[in-house]
Amino acid sequence: MAPSSATPLPTEDQIRDKLTAVIDPELRRNIVELGMVRSIVIKDDGRVEVTVSLTTPGCPIRSHFQQAVVEQASSVEGVTSVGVGFDVLSDEEKSSLQQTLGRGKLPQGALAQVKNVICVASGKGGVGKSTMTANLAAALQAEGYKTGALDCDVYGYSIPRMLGVDQKPEVNGERKIVPPEAATGVKTMSIGYFVEQNSAVVWRGPMLHKAIQQFLEDVAWGELDYLLLDLPPGTGDIAMTLAQLLPQAKIAIVTTPQPAAQSVARRSAEMADKVDLEVMGVIENMAGFTTPSGETFSIFGEGGGRLLAEELEVPLLSTVPLSEELRTLADEGRSLAVEQPDSPAGAAIVAAARKIIASTPRELPVLQAAPAAAPEAPKLGANARELPVIQ
Ligand SMILES: Nc1ncnc2c1ncn2[C@@H]1O[C@H](COP(=O)(O)OP(=O)(O)O)[C@@H](O)[C@H]1O
Ligand SMILES: [Mg+2]
Repeated sequence: MAPSSATPLPTEDQIRDKLTAVIDPELRRNIVELGMVRSIVIKDDGRVEVTVSLTTPGCPIRSHFQQAVVEQASSVEGVTSVGVGFDVLSDEEKSSLQQTLGRGKLPQGALAQVKNVICVASGKGGVGKSTMTANLAAALQAEGYKTGALDCDVYGYSIPRMLGVDQKPEVNGERKIVPPEAATGVKTMSIGYFVEQNSAVVWRGPMLHKAIQQFLEDVAWGELDYLLLDLPPGTGDIAMTLAQLLPQAKIAIVTTPQPAAQSVARRSAEMADKVDLEVMGVIENMAGFTTPSGETFSIFGEGGGRLLAEELEVPLLSTVPLSEELRTLADEGRSLAVEQPDSPAGAAIVAAARKIIASTPRELPVLQAAPAAAPEAPKLGANARELPVIQ
């Protein structure tokens, strides 16, 4: 008698293993590691039923989870069909998850539908970080991508002014802060909306972290293709907080063309390395100024951006020339990249936006590229213990 050649039934371990490829886009860890796989039932006919526990009942990305779980589970040999059910983590489970993650509060879905987070950073101030953030955000939106701009520079906030928003944010029925929209459609958030004009705010460390955390978690960002973060200059604590909250954010470094600026920009790259965020590219700003008669003046030197990009082995996203209109429009809350996309500086920013579009995923990060071989014990970010406790 020949042994039966029927495919053996899949095992729970095989399914669980595959589900390590499914990540929570907000917590950025896989659902097995997060303890969100409530049950796996395997029927005699090869049907698999998975129950996933969510952190919030109204999780806006349920169907993405559903798709990802079906996709993964059905790739196991012997699986004939997959059913996915949902429930919600109990309060106890939530608090143990909070402890595992080393954070004070679990997100309530504010960032669940944000596909890409890009931190715009530089080693020092005055290189045009905010100008680039504002113009890139407007350019991305104009290219048809939903975009938000978040001011993380709590001392030198400039997003409201540069994007021309002068409106206090409101709180919606779910007690989330609604980000005011610029005329271009970019959603914005800044500490500038909450402080008296020109008043000096003194931030103590924990308050600073709390403010940034709130902007990420208590703002109704909704569905966004890109959320751009205008980081404060230098390599400070903010980057640490962000890295902990957004381990899959990427960094774009802004530098001016002279070699001295390059060394400070390199420091931001070192910061990126320290916090383990990927550098996606370099934007050289304040490059050569060309007069209408065609003469070029390289006021801040030349080639620093390319050198830095080569050194970091990342793309040079663009070289943006000095432009009086870029500055004057930004001062009026308008974006050259949208209003004069064919001007030299406008075109350079649009080019950077297109490179960003070409190099970033269009989908929510629900699936991890390479599933981990076996679910690991949850790791606390190396930086977690350096952060002040956020209540
Ligand atoms: N390419 C450029 N051409 C002309 N002025 C620029 C350019 N980029 C930035 N600026 C101006 O330089 C100043 C500093 O820019 P800002 O974006 O505030 O820098 P940061 O945020 O890095 O401190 C602003 O007045 C801005 O309008
Ligand atoms: Mg700035």
